[in-house]
Amino acid sequence: MSRFLALTTSPGFEQRLVLSLAAGHEVQVLSGPAGHQSPADVLSRNLGGPIDVVIFGPDVSVEDWFALASAIDAENPEIVLVLAAAPSSELTLSAVRSGIRDIIDPGADAHDLTQALERAANTAASRRQASVAGAREEQPRGRVVSVMSPKGGVGKTTVSTNLAVGLARTVPMGAVIVDLDLQFGDVGSGLGLEPAHTITDAVRGSAASDSMVLKAFLAPHPSGAYALCAPLRPAEADLIEPAHVAALVHQLSLEFPYVVLDTSPGLGDVVLAVLELATDAVWVCGMDIPSIRGLNHGLEVLRQLDLMPPSSTVVLNFADKRSGLTVKDVEATVGLPVEVVLPHSRAVPFSTNAGVPMLQSGRRDPVAKGLGALVAKIAAGGTVVGARNSRRRVAVS
Ligand SMILES: Nc1ncnc2c1ncn2[C@@H]1O[C@H](COP(=O)(O)OP(=O)(O)OP(=O)(O)O)[C@@H](O)[C@H]1O
Ligand SMILES: [Mg+2]
Repeated sequence: MSRFLALTTSPGFEQRLVLSLAAGHEVQVLSGPAGHQSPADVLSRNLGGPIDVVIFGPDVSVEDWFALASAIDAENPEIVLVLAAAPSSELTLSAVRSGIRDIIDPGADAHDLTQALERAANTAASRRQASVAGAREEQPRGRVVSVMSPKGGVGKTTVSTNLAVGLARTVPMGAVIVDLDLQFGDVGSGLGLEPAHTITDAVRGSAASDSMVLKAFLAPHPSGAYALCAPLRPAEADLIEPAHVAALVHQLSLEFPYVVLDTSPGLGDVVLAVLELATDAVWVCGMDIPSIRGLNHGLEVLRQLDLMPPSSTVVLNFADKRSGLTVKDVEATVGLPVEVVLPHSRAVPFSTNAGVPMLQSGRRDPVAKGLGALVAKIAAGGTVVGARNSRRRVAVS
């Protein structure tokens, strides 16, 4: 979905825009003379998320659109600017100079208008992606650890919540966990939190561009970690765009040394959008054939898309030597070493149900030990701590 802001006082043009906009996009009209609007007035409009496209209507004077477009383009190159005007070579030159990306004929038929709007939406989406990728190279960022698995229920939330709590011990106030299981996330319940704000607030309005506002939406956890929990209602997930989540993760990575991402099962659009930013992948895998095969396919897909983060760790959960499989079988199938093994333990559902992660309670348990090793690896920058031969760590009990 893209958010369009149209500057026009022409009810006719407004109506044609609304009718031509493909389903899923949103348009808001800023009526009133454009000459009275500053770039800040335009950009502070709350569209429920960052503005993707600004359209100058046919009634806006050349001086007004030229001044506004130039100012918006200078500060917000990711916003696509479109002018509705009868094209002429003189006008095209001014438009190019002011950063206007496309000129649409106000008299065009509905089909052409729809296509032009769709073109602008696509350009906006790729600009936003590029600005995230570009910024990624420019500024120092914290580690972004994405905890994933193609299959559900294998322990992603258990691992990610413990990782956030463990990392917050190494750098107090330095870790934030983001629940990217937008429909059914349970990071809040796993951490015993009832947050006042969720990721829905964080991708909207001024939080999307202002770190101070964004930080106000994070829920503090007693361990010193922060959490950005999933929306309270699953339907809100539809309002959250993958590109906006990527921008949010990027922003958090500029503020925190560690950003831990809990994800939904599989490799959905949101996961793929944030993987470009991830420095570490933590793959959680159950000790059963569907889970191992699923992981293998997932890794293949990411290699094909060239989206494998620089560092990967396989966590084998529910490990049980009576499963008929060995760690070597898992390694041979997925082609990566298994560096962390978490046995089946009754202490884990107990901790989930209590909303107190294992590493918070300080409970002595083989699972807590394995999770501690994972924290140490991430804190050491993605390299295995202690043993040279990581395989010595992975006996299955
Ligand atoms: N090593 C373990 N031993 C026993 N129970 C475990 C272990 N790891 C996780 N569990 C339990 O399994 C259940 C699923 O774990 P969790 O919610 O972490 O999985 P998930 O991958 O996040 O699931 P989903 O795909 O639904 O998000 C939880 O009740 C958790 O307490
Ligand atoms: Mg989960």
